[in-house]
Amino acid sequence: MIQSEALEILKNGHNVYLTGAAGSGKTYLLNAYIQYLKANRVNVGVTASTGIAATHMEGITIHSWAGIGLLRTASDKEIQAIIENKRIVKRFQKTQTLIIDEVSMLDADRLDLLEKVARLARGSWEPFGGMQVVLCGDFFQLPPVAKAGEPLPRFVYKSAAWENMNLKVCYLHGQYRQGEEEFLRMLNAIRDASVDETVVSRLHQCRATAFSPDSLGRVVRLYSHNLNVDLENNRELAKLPGKEYVYLMEMSGIPAIAESLKRGCLAPEKLVLKIGAAVMFVKNNFEQGYVNGTLGTVASFNEDGFPVIASLNGDEIVAEPETWSVEENGKKLAELKQIPLRLAWAITVHKSQGMTLDAAQVDLSKCFEPGMGYVALSRVRSLKGLRILGFNGMALKVSEDTLAFDEELKKRSEEALRELGSLPKRTPNEKEPPKTYSVEKVREKSPSAYKKWTADEEASLVAGFRSGKSPVMLSEMLGREVGGIRSRLIKLGLIE
Ligand SMILES: Nc1ncnc2c1ncn2[C@@H]1O[C@H](COP(=O)(O)OP(=O)(O)O)[C@@H](O)[C@H]1O
Ligand SMILES: [Mg+2]
Repeated sequence: MIQSEALEILKNGHNVYLTGAAGSGKTYLLNAYIQYLKANRVNVGVTASTGIAATHMEGITIHSWAGIGLLRTASDKEIQAIIENKRIVKRFQKTQTLIIDEVSMLDADRLDLLEKVARLARGSWEPFGGMQVVLCGDFFQLPPVAKAGEPLPRFVYKSAAWENMNLKVCYLHGQYRQGEEEFLRMLNAIRDASVDETVVSRLHQCRATAFSPDSLGRVVRLYSHNLNVDLENNRELAKLPGKEYVYLMEMSGIPAIAESLKRGCLAPEKLVLKIGAAVMFVKNNFEQGYVNGTLGTVASFNEDGFPVIASLNGDEIVAEPETWSVEENGKKLAELKQIPLRLAWAITVHKSQGMTLDAAQVDLSKCFEPGMGYVALSRVRSLKGLRILGFNGMALKVSEDTLAFDEELKKRSEEALRELGSLPKRTPNEKEPPKTYSVEKVREKSPSAYKKWTADEEASLVAGFRSGKSPVMLSEMLGREVGGIRSRLIKLGLIE
């Protein structure tokens, strides 16, 4: 379907899986929908699976939005801790639409966890507690990151939450990033696993691409591994003239906990900067005007010695030290303090998913995951903006599971389109308000609400009902909600 058809389906308030090839305009459409929702005063949560992807909609990662941090699964105690965070619960309760972009990199377990937290925070048993949820992505792109020692991650379409959400599928068929027919044929050949000699030899030719820097702007370098990213960034930094500014991470608290905090922290232990260095913010700070993923260049250093960053959208931001901490019962166990930046001439292919680039130099010689080559190559608009250092066999592969599932997605998208004509139109303000309640609040009026029925209470209920009392009268008599009275009467077979 085309963008405007998908937009109509979104506006109808359904849970949606929005998909399509790289560059089909998925994120562009999400932005259009977000604008529409804001104009209609609908509260929308804007998130993505990675920080950079979220910046394309001025959102934040789903992990930090939902307060789940690095958790993939959670014990009851951990879930309890999340829903004791008033700020997070309030966020869940007031959100009417939740958007998550780049869901191919979101693990199935994590979607199930989010779904559960949403239900608990909103006090509703509907999927995601009744919010409209829009998942967006493309399973031919990167799968969730596998961590050593953890069970293998699965695509979100294998989660229980996905099954229960009753998703309408919107499969976009346009192409807005690449206009060249030759390039598109190559990308589509990778996408449908039909790479032939012509494609391979044209990719080899890309080793010789020469960039004219002024016409193409910044060349972003993409690598499959962090190690190469770091090497490349350090090499670029060394080339810059000018004074080095060194920032060392301060660590405090219980050493073992501080160490594990450091492993999960995107800021490096030793950050070295110079004027002209390409950088990326690695934390959210809305007051200062940056989020995890904001890209820029070091413009100067202020009198306190902190770097001043010229962001890609033209803002000047002072990068002051930030803290990362672990707390338990309000007590700090460990804390890190560092300038929230890392070098960013080169980034991993993972972080590039969602970007549109004018020029990229990609090294696909160590690809280790299906979809990696497709993501890296599809970032640029044209072949003249693409230099390939090398590629291996994996670089031309996509997930086999996805090849089969894609057929189903296409069918479901056609179905959704056929239905579109017959769907009732509704503006978002007509959407029922989120069904949220707290047991405490209900018990102010009905002290016995949600409590287990005792035999004595049940006897009074039956007697009251037989003497002709209405559910409302019975509700007052027994201190329970009218709904609770009705369901008990149904259970006892006294009413239908
Ligand atoms: N309807 C449109 N009109 C103009 N430009 C568009 C449109 N849809 C997408 N684009 C542009 O095309 C590029 C790719 O779109 P994007 O939404 O990032 O694709 P996807 O998220 O599907 O990979 C972006 O630069 C985007 O701004
Ligand atoms: Mg996108």
